[in-house]
Amino acid sequence: MYDVEIVGTGSFVPENRVTNEDISKFVDTSDEWISERTGIKERRISISENTSDLAFMAARRALDDAGISPEEVDLIILATITPDYFFPSTACLVQAKLGAHKATSFDISAACSGFIFGLTVAEQFINTGVYQTVLVIGAEVLSKIVDWNDRSTSVLFGDGAGAAVLKRGKQGIISRVTGCDGSGAASLACPAVPLKNAFCDFSQEKANVLTMNGREIFKFAVKIMPECVEKVLEDSGHSIDEIRYIIPHQANIRLVDAAVKKLQINQEKVYINIQRFGNTSGASIALALDEMSRGGLLRNGDLLILVGFGSGLTYGAMLLKWTKEGNDNGEEKNDAKKD
Ligand code: COA
Repeated sequence: MYDVEIVGTGSFVPENRVTNEDISKFVDTSDEWISERTGIKERRISISENTSDLAFMAARRALDDAGISPEEVDLIILATITPDYFFPSTACLVQAKLGAHKATSFDISAACSGFIFGLTVAEQFINTGVYQTVLVIGAEVLSKIVDWNDRSTSVLFGDGAGAAVLKRGKQGIISRVTGCDGSGAASLACPAVPLKNAFCDFSQEKANVLTMNGREIFKFAVKIMPECVEKVLEDSGHSIDEIRYIIPHQANIRLVDAAVKKLQINQEKVYINIQRFGNTSGASIALALDEMSRGGLLRNGDLLILVGFGSGLTYGAMLLKWTKEGNDNGEEKNDAKKD
């Protein structure tokens, strides 16, 4: 079994900032409601870039950060629920854009847990010696599937991408957990193409937009996130006090606060950037991790926990030891700048 470490990260968000005030011009909402109930102040919304464009930029930055050329990548795993096409996979489009000619490439669909699922799959390929260098990307253009007339969902989501390069090396990934509860599938969903042939009832057709039962998701997340964190701690033999940062999926600040309270951890250990990006689903944890790395927050030897949940319902967590040298100058080198 080979050990696996993260040797580079990258992220990219569209330039177009959409504030809560902007959204309140076309649905009945307000900055006050959105800020108080979710913690979101603004999000990035793509004008012309599709998921593969954002994914390519994040991947390019992660490879540069790792000092690895695209030709060295053995595998690309792209987590998304907003692919450019049903097929080909968005990972194949990114493989071509990068010129990562030898990389086997495929997408995975695990919604907001997608980046953790992607890291977990990548880890297995490296553990077993099948591959040495794997690029894991989380990328979304959720604005394509948001119902912009629905105030209960349109205020929550944003577009963006994050990526990490994993390599055979030091023991960076220490423990992980993934899981699903398919009985909750209807709580957060977006239909694909309806069954359509000469024998079907066409009156059943539904629009391809996202629908959500916010309260059900809230309850699920507040229960499952602490359980996932406790599981990766237990499997690793580390205690919560040894953890430097928890990087949760950025879905809603109130939800994260409730989960953190259950775990009885210091709020300062929890990284939050939802105020600037909203919920970017599969991209959110990767985007936060890259921001922290480039912002000089992560030091060699730090223990981190990534934890997420999402449509499926899916959930997962990973306990990492940061083995990369920190950016001591604290300089942020991407578009995901702090206010
Ligand atoms: N602006 C103003 N009012 C809004 C609104 C908006 N954007 N969205 C909903 N409301 C209204 C509702 O219509 C309702 O009005 P009513 O009392 O007159 O019926 C009221 O606000 C309360 O709605 P409710 O749905 O109970 O609010 P909430 O406190 O549960 O917050 C969410 C809604 C969506 C923010 C919250 O449930 C949540 O964050 N859930 C988790 C969602 C999530 O994380 N999804 C992604 C998972 S990866």
